[in-house]
Amino acid sequence: MSTYRIAPSILSADFARLGEEVREVVAAGADIIHFDVMDNHYVPNLTIGPLVCQAIRPHVQVPIDVHLMVKPVDRIIPDFAKAGANIISFHPEASEHIDRTLQLIRDQGCKAGLVFNPATPLHHLEHVMDKVDLILIMSVNPGFGGQSFIGEALKKVRAVRQMINASGRDILLEVDGGIKVENIAEVARAGADTFVAGSAIFGKPDYKAIIDAMRSQLAAV
Ligand code: DX5
Ligand code: ZN
Repeated sequence: MSTYRIAPSILSADFARLGEEVREVVAAGADIIHFDVMDNHYVPNLTIGPLVCQAIRPHVQVPIDVHLMVKPVDRIIPDFAKAGANIISFHPEASEHIDRTLQLIRDQGCKAGLVFNPATPLHHLEHVMDKVDLILIMSVNPGFGGQSFIGEALKKVRAVRQMINASGRDILLEVDGGIKVENIAEVARAGADTFVAGSAIFGKPDYKAIIDAMRSQLAAV
């Protein structure tokens, strides 16, 4: 039994049929639903908020992993917790008080994650390793699905894997952006255990075939 998790990003789903889309992708083997929140301020795109999280919540049993690309972050966190989010992550550049935001997420009963853009250094982690439940390494610049994987991210994944191992804590190491069947094994070898994939899955005719192909790549790592 592998400990790898596949987290389809609904950013590339058909928003007119979102309930059906999340049910289908979970039936196809998704472990987590990745929910991208963009505000047209922190990132140059505008997507979905707590009402949509609440709307899909009854359709799936798996965790909903809310990736906040919004600034400021604190005000919206309780709304997502009430809407049924299980994991809430944010970018350190978007919070004035990172430790406080992590604590706020945990106080709401959710797992807390910190997200690192391709050019964001990892030093923000140094004093909060005891408060993070997930570290998300961006392998594209946030804002859009369908971009190409930035290879430099692998170095950062390796560094984070060492930090997690040294901490002795149970922290998920997630990678987001440009992941597909062809490169998922390389990302796993660098130390990731949780893989976001949007355009590689949604919009394709057979979700199960793609998730199975990803799992067989992971099984060979
Ligand atoms: C980008 C989002 C990603 C995006 C990934 O800002 O955070 O989750 O949906 O899409 P793909 O897998 O198409 O790169
Ligand atoms: Zn994301």
